[in-house]
Amino acid sequence: MEIKIFKNKRAASEAALALFKEALKTGKETFGLATGSTPEDLYTLLRASDLDFSQATSVNLDEYVGLGAEDDQSYAYFMKKHLFEEKPFKESYLPDGLAENLDEETKRYDKIIEEHPIDLQLLGIGRNGHIGFNEPGTPSDSTTRVVDLTESTINANERFFASRDDVPRQAISMGLGSIMSSKKLLLMAFGEDKADAIAKTIEGEVTSEVPATLLQKHADAVIYIDEAAASQLKGNYDREA
Ligand code: GLP
Repeated sequence: MEIKIFKNKRAASEAALALFKEALKTGKETFGLATGSTPEDLYTLLRASDLDFSQATSVNLDEYVGLGAEDDQSYAYFMKKHLFEEKPFKESYLPDGLAENLDEETKRYDKIIEEHPIDLQLLGIGRNGHIGFNEPGTPSDSTTRVVDLTESTINANERFFASRDDVPRQAISMGLGSIMSSKKLLLMAFGEDKADAIAKTIEGEVTSEVPATLLQKHADAVIYIDEAAASQLKGNYDREA
């Protein structure tokens, strides 16, 4: 794993932008995208950039069960607002949170991932070390499926909804196996409440109890974090001025 510690989220997001630029320049076609507050600055920089994704494909990590693209809390809505409206891709895929048959939807999504091998997958991390919505205990070879969100994740997401009751309890998430099959992974994390998960991800033993630790086994995983998220690390790592 390549670890880089930046002075703040903006600086890390600029470095992430450079990775996206490089990927496009070298002919990479499929980008795995993520939602949440973590990639927001990167998406702002991408929107303001001259990068052209009109020949590229995007595949998102996850979507809430029960929320459609028109719902302002859905990940489809988030992606439209933060990126796609201004930077359209040739094709953009997200799981359909309103699919009538969820089992068929997970199969459809796996087929999409199979047909569009991901060149660069962007990842945030949950406070409990989840990636996508792969909560603690998820098998490392898992594919797309419906997952029950943990209390920790429901609590973390509560701030975006009118009340706790409105927070979806389930999501459709790309599996850990699919994430690990991406050619390159870029995980970003900012702020002190990610410090414990980041310390475990980088310095802890690989365990399904902290899904992000699996990145230690990936051949090309890059982790960009700020000082606060790095605050519980014991080792010495590259610090970007
Ligand atoms: C959700 C998403 C994850 C994201 C995580 C952290 O659980 N499914 O993909 O990484 O939240 O969100 P944030 O970046 O807002 O801290």
